[in-house]
Amino acid sequence: MTNLLNLNLPDNYSSLEETIDYAEKILIAAVDDTKTLFHTPVVSSFNNNQISSRVMVLREFSLKDRKMRFHTDYRAAKIDHFNKVSNASVVGYDPELKIQIKLQGNISTHYDDEVTKIAWDNSTSRSKKCYSVKGGSSLEIENPEDYDIKEFEVEKGYKNFSVLIFTFSSLEFLYLKSSGHRRAIHEWNDSYSSSWLVP
Ligand SMILES: Cc1cc2nc3c(=O)[nH]c(=O)nc-3n(C[C@H](O)[C@H](O)[C@H](O)COP(=O)(O)O)c2cc1C
Repeated sequence: MTNLLNLNLPDNYSSLEETIDYAEKILIAAVDDTKTLFHTPVVSSFNNNQISSRVMVLREFSLKDRKMRFHTDYRAAKIDHFNKVSNASVVGYDPELKIQIKLQGNISTHYDDEVTKIAWDNSTSRSKKCYSVKGGSSLEIENPEDYDIKEFEVEKGYKNFSVLIFTFSSLEFLYLKSSGHRRAIHEWNDSYSSSWLVP
């Protein structure tokens, strides 16, 4: 069971302010709460004329900066996608909470800079280990066992480590409940605005 239930989420959302306040609480808590599906949202990119989606671990959330942080392998296909077209969407849903949160924005990729150094230094050895895999993400291989990470020097993985910073311009909150669905959009264009939508 997710610790997010300790947030004492309401049974009903009666104001737009509540929907953004609880979205913030959920996403901040999801960074450390591995049990909620908001810990592993789906991040989508453009790959030429196709959409490419994948699950990623949410490492940081800030509503004030309208920012999410993700970690990845610099050799992954999505690095190229975001370098070419920065548009991105992130979506998560937790069936226990009955809440979906969907965000639209742009992703900037970071490699061997201040952002990656801080993120790497704050990563556990367990997380760092993934970046020592030889060959690089998405390489076609004959035998997966050859790519099990056995002997490695954890700090050598840094050369493959990358950080994605997602800056969002909209956040949609959807609460599905038989007593009445609630859908709210929050947008940051020239200024901030919010509205209810038909669910
Ligand atoms: C539970 C789970 C968590 C994952 N977390 C990450 C992650 O934090 N970063 C990442 O790059 N890939 C993560 N992946 C793998 C991605 O979903 C994806 O397969 C991989 O990044 C290659 O994607 P790409 O070819 O689109 O770049 C995770 C997969 C699962 C199932």
